[in-house]
Amino acid sequence: MKLCMIGTGYVGLVSGVCFSDLGNDVVCVDKDINKINLLKKGKIPIYEPGLLEIVTKNYKNKRLTFSSDLKTSVKNSDIIFICVGTPTKKNGSSADLSQIFNVAKELSSSINKFKIIITKSTVPVTTGDEIEKIISKKNIKNKFSVVSNPEFLREGEAIRDFTFPDRIIIGTNDKKSNRILKNLYSPLISKGAQYVNTSRRAAELIKYASNAFLATKITFINEIANLCEKTDINVEDISIGMGLDKRIGSRFLRSGPAYGGSCFPKDTKSIISTANKFKTNLSVIKSVIKSNEERSKLLLNRVYEILNKKIKNKKITFLGVTFKANTDDMRDSSSLSMIPVLSRKGAIIRYFDPTGYKSEFKKLKNVSFEDSIKKSIEKSDLVIIHTEWNDFKSINFKNLVKGKKFAIYDMRNIYSPTKIKAQGFKYFSVGR
Ligand SMILES: NC(=O)c1ccc[n+]([C@@H]2O[C@H](COP(=O)([O-])OP(=O)(O)OC[C@H]3O[C@@H](n4cnc5c(N)ncnc54)[C@H](O)[C@@H]3O)[C@@H](O)[C@H]2O)c1
Repeated sequence: MKLCMIGTGYVGLVSGVCFSDLGNDVVCVDKDINKINLLKKGKIPIYEPGLLEIVTKNYKNKRLTFSSDLKTSVKNSDIIFICVGTPTKKNGSSADLSQIFNVAKELSSSINKFKIIITKSTVPVTTGDEIEKIISKKNIKNKFSVVSNPEFLREGEAIRDFTFPDRIIIGTNDKKSNRILKNLYSPLISKGAQYVNTSRRAAELIKYASNAFLATKITFINEIANLCEKTDINVEDISIGMGLDKRIGSRFLRSGPAYGGSCFPKDTKSIISTANKFKTNLSVIKSVIKSNEERSKLLLNRVYEILNKKIKNKKITFLGVTFKANTDDMRDSSSLSMIPVLSRKGAIIRYFDPTGYKSEFKKLKNVSFEDSIKKSIEKSDLVIIHTEWNDFKSINFKNLVKGKKFAIYDMRNIYSPTKIKAQGFKYFSVGR
């Protein structure tokens, strides 16, 4: 099939590349010309393990192309996936859908034969109806079909998640589109993915409800971790004990910093905003958002306690600043709410992240990037393990920085408290 991905970011690039690997002809379109030029030179603009290899393979065999010409790319394709960003509105909490509607307007003048137009971006309930209205202004109804096909991949695991999804949700009442899409996804269905056909609005809501539920699970165990800290209980025992109940499940039940990333913070706010529009009170999700916002403050208070409330001129290291491991994505990472506060209080902050320097901290006083774990920790008073990269899982602190005894705040519970304390370090973790 001939596919066009509009928006070549984490979702558009990964799904486009994977579709080409399944034998389709795919053009990935982006208005960011630098991104397209990089890709044409064989360079990947994002950090995603394994992506370079399959981009190179499919680009070479010409099943995958890159373009900034949206109109021609749409004309030459049968199925169009809209994969542009849907961030939170500035000064608001609802989703900013301007990128989506701009694309809908732009592509509406390129419908030269029947096209299936799919929103893979996460969009609020009724967005599909709006897209249909926009395209209908220039086209008769039987020339196109607007379908919702939300994406559930996780950054860092994106290729595996796309190739072996738990489920494929197709929101459409149009039988022809459903048949074509079932055929498109048949290689994944034959590997075990469940194919679910719903109404378009249901598909839109499934995505938000899923993200809100996962955010709830993380927030829930984070609050339980707070109780464990007060009652001398190891929260990991609770996670194991709860997670073995099949009704609950063990995933997303590990305590740590506030959840972040490009999806949960914006999607929880957006579903509340949608519910407000339809005069419905989603009180559970509201309290999840509040609890998560308080979490960074709570962990900062712990940092103050560890440093005996003396922050000025204290040397603090962050190991990992992205919101999770195996991605370079900084969007809504909890490090963005902690590092600026510590910098304002006079701390001297060094950070090391396997994905390198982060421009987000450029303007902050006394915040610098070091290009190795050793350099980042050797002068430290406190080392904060913020992200659970494998690189941080077996550091021999004692050998790496001989004679130095800093405190360690392991926000991911990577290390055994007894072993680290035996090496002479003050060690703090989460919920244990
Ligand atoms: N990142 C994830 O892990 C993830 C997972 C599931 C769903 N989603 C959803 O998928 C959507 C995309 O997320 P992302 O992380 O890939 O975003 P992103 O910011 O990485 O990529 C979006 C791309 O769209 C491009 N774009 C914007 N307007 C355009 C236009 N008019 N024409 C061509 N290109 C245009 C941008 O230049 C950018 O490269 C969002 O709705 C997000 O919520 C993201």
